[in-house]
Amino acid sequence: MTKPQVLLAYVSHFGSTSEIAHEIADVLRREEINVDVIDLKTHAETQTPSLTNYTGVIIGSGIRMASWAKEVLDFVQSNRKILKSKPLGVFVSSGEASNPDTYEKAKEKYLYKILDEFQLMGPEVIYEAFGGIFDFSSSSNYSFLEKKILQRIAESSSSGFVVNDGKLNDFRNWQLIREWSTTFADILNTSEISEKQQPQTVTRV
Ligand SMILES: Cc1cc2nc3c(=O)[nH]c(=O)nc-3n(C[C@H](O)[C@H](O)[C@H](O)COP(=O)(O)O)c2cc1C
Repeated sequence: MTKPQVLLAYVSHFGSTSEIAHEIADVLRREEINVDVIDLKTHAETQTPSLTNYTGVIIGSGIRMASWAKEVLDFVQSNRKILKSKPLGVFVSSGEASNPDTYEKAKEKYLYKILDEFQLMGPEVIYEAFGGIFDFSSSSNYSFLEKKILQRIAESSSSGFVVNDGKLNDFRNWQLIREWSTTFADILNTSEISEKQQPQTVTRV
């Protein structure tokens, strides 16, 4: 039997989404699924593989200034029609999703709104807002302004959510990420949509 093929396309501003993307790919590969991982920021549009040959697609974006990365939005816009015809996984890594107080709001803003806008909701679509990184360590790559913006997001939190100044705060839940990846593998393996798209073998009699 042919192995399912997945394209995982993402953009990461500071590396959090990139590490999540590679963890998802590792889980899928352990489930006997072939995965091509592409960073849409460095991958020219002309080199982006055609989605026709993929059984399923996963899209990921880091959130910055309340938005998805432009390259991911452009990718969704250009492939909107074909994305509707395949099992689809959508995830973001977001500061607001890190905090239980603002997690639901983050899902609303960064998932439901986008899925709705591109009319991508369907029976074989899964989505999740994973937490992210607040890097306030001395080796952080944020500019002064970026640090201030992120500090404001951290401060807007209330009950029990603590972001330490001077430290790298990592709110990604790796167990959740792995479980989500396994769910996507299950969808691929039982997909009615993708079954229809498997290359047909012609039996000669
Ligand atoms: C300048 C800046 C702006 C940010 N704006 C938001 C925001 O509006 N909403 C949010 O949920 N998180 C925001 N974040 C937090 C990021 O989403 C979080 O750090 C995430 O892990 C980034 O993933 P990435 O490094 O893959 O892009 C911001 C981070 C930075 C540095």
